Amino acid sequence: MRAAILSFMPRLLAPVIILLLSIPAHAAHPPAAAIASAHPLATDAGMEILNAGGNAFDAAVAVTGALAVVAPMSCGLGGGGFWLLHRAKDNFETMIDGRETAPQAARNNMYLDEQGNVVPNLSLDGPLSAAIPGTPAALVHLAKKYGRLPLARSLAPAIRLAHDGFATDEFYRRVAEFRLTALANAPGLLEQGKPPQPGFVLRQPDLAAVLISLAKQGTAGFYHGEVASKLVDGVRHAGGIWTLNDLANYKIIERTPLRGEYHGTRITSAPPPSSGGVALMSMLNILSGYPLTTLDASTQTHLLIEAMRRAYRDRAEYLGDPGFVSVPVKQLLHPFYAAGLRASIRLDRATPSSALPTEIPVQQGPDTTHFSILDRDGNRVAATVTVNYAFGSAFIPPGTGVLLNDEMDDFSAKPGAPNAYGLVGAEANAIAPGKRPLSSMTPTFLENQRGVAILGTPGGSRIISMVLLATLEFARGGNAANMVALPRLHHQFVPDQVFYEADALNPGQRAMLEKRGHRLEQTADRFGDMQAIVWERDTGVNAASDPRGRGAARVQNPP
Ligand code: GLY
Repeated sequence: MRAAILSFMPRLLAPVIILLLSIPAHAAHPPAAAIASAHPLATDAGMEILNAGGNAFDAAVAVTGALAVVAPMSCGLGGGGFWLLHRAKDNFETMIDGRETAPQAARNNMYLDEQGNVVPNLSLDGPLSAAIPGTPAALVHLAKKYGRLPLARSLAPAIRLAHDGFATDEFYRRVAEFRLTALANAPGLLEQGKPPQPGFVLRQPDLAAVLISLAKQGTAGFYHGEVASKLVDGVRHAGGIWTLNDLANYKIIERTPLRGEYHGTRITSAPPPSSGGVALMSMLNILSGYPLTTLDASTQTHLLIEAMRRAYRDRAEYLGDPGFVSVPVKQLLHPFYAAGLRASIRLDRATPSSALPTEIPVQQGPDTTHFSILDRDGNRVAATVTVNYAFGSAFIPPGTGVLLNDEMDDFSAKPGAPNAYGLVGAEANAIAPGKRPLSSMTPTFLENQRGVAILGTPGGSRIISMVLLATLEFARGGNAANMVALPRLHHQFVPDQVFYEADALNPGQRAMLEKRGHRLEQTADRFGDMQAIVWERDTGVNAASDPRGRGAARVQNPP
């Protein structure tokens, strides 16, 4: 199958041609700093650190730390993430890959029963679902290599929030209700065994102690010594497979971001082991061959859906941890490849996903969180962090307060199982010791003549299509508020359905799409929690937190 797809491409394929634009660098400093995050207390924590003389990278430590305390359903010290950085003084850009890794005892059949069937919930609940966390190591690295302030100063707001407590809200109650059975293993996140009533002050003294240990000792304070022993003892006692060596050997990786271009907008985004950047740029490459804005709305939507279908197919087929599998990024992002995919799109008819080679399910997690930061020097951070499913594995090793992720579920639990899940495609993302599971997280920077945007969102597999829609909105002149509020629709190859928010398609557009053969399904809820900042050359800085969420965006003008 792989050979079949690669044969789509002409032989002369050379390294990808990246169309570098003559976008003027932002020479001047932005007139204001801004932070947009999914929780007001996390935005406040970042602002506190900027006001204390920290830069965007210190603020990113503070926001990540605070979110770890106040948004345990989305992220935490027991999880991982990607921090995309832009350093203004030399325009250096990098992505800190703090993705979790499979423990050494992990095996590719570990979630299958004797008949080879996936055991429900084994990769979702409890310590066997947890990969080795990357967030603590990423915070230490971020502070040490890029920050101005000591780690302990940037983590101070998080330590305070964990120690003194914070008032839980209706969102917290709802998500805790949803995961109540699994959360029996994390009673410290509940109110006497029940979802906390809004206003309940949740204190997490054990988590405060681990944050202090990390702040004082750096990685040794989490990956070695007393904290590491408690984590491993707790995991193993409850049936997990972590060892002290797994923790001691965890390493973040700095990766060169992916770059691409769409009609004058330069895109900088997450490379593998995220599928986000590749799929985003692949969709934009396909769409760049159409005069999109001159087409009627339903044809535009049809083309968006067909671009999503093809990029998500490739995501499922080719992408995985580049440390373990060879990911054909250059080929997938080559303009000739996009032209080949475009040639398979009909304007008048949907392509059934079954007509494209292979059929592999794409996983989707409903949680994760994103934040965006711009400081007065022009440094930027776009960070998407996660524990995967709501409240991750819902397991806290006793005495640590650290809620563990269930990122193992982002692997393909059943690789190479042709009957149920398609053939070789799942191999790229099969479980292996030390491997990073494929992610959809898509922290992104956009730049054009108008200015710069910093964006991202949670939403599992829908992350990438949401960032695509926001990118197109920025390219046609939208500000941060427009980008986050945009009605959303999504197609991910399998299932062969278009999921849309109520206001994304009017009756006429729905009729036109159904006539082409698209199967439409309106989602019960709106989806996504995008956090965006736009620095416009002429009008200054604007920021917005998704109206679907409970976050806060603040723009801070100089006194
Ligand atoms: N766990 C969600 C993601 O990494 O895509």
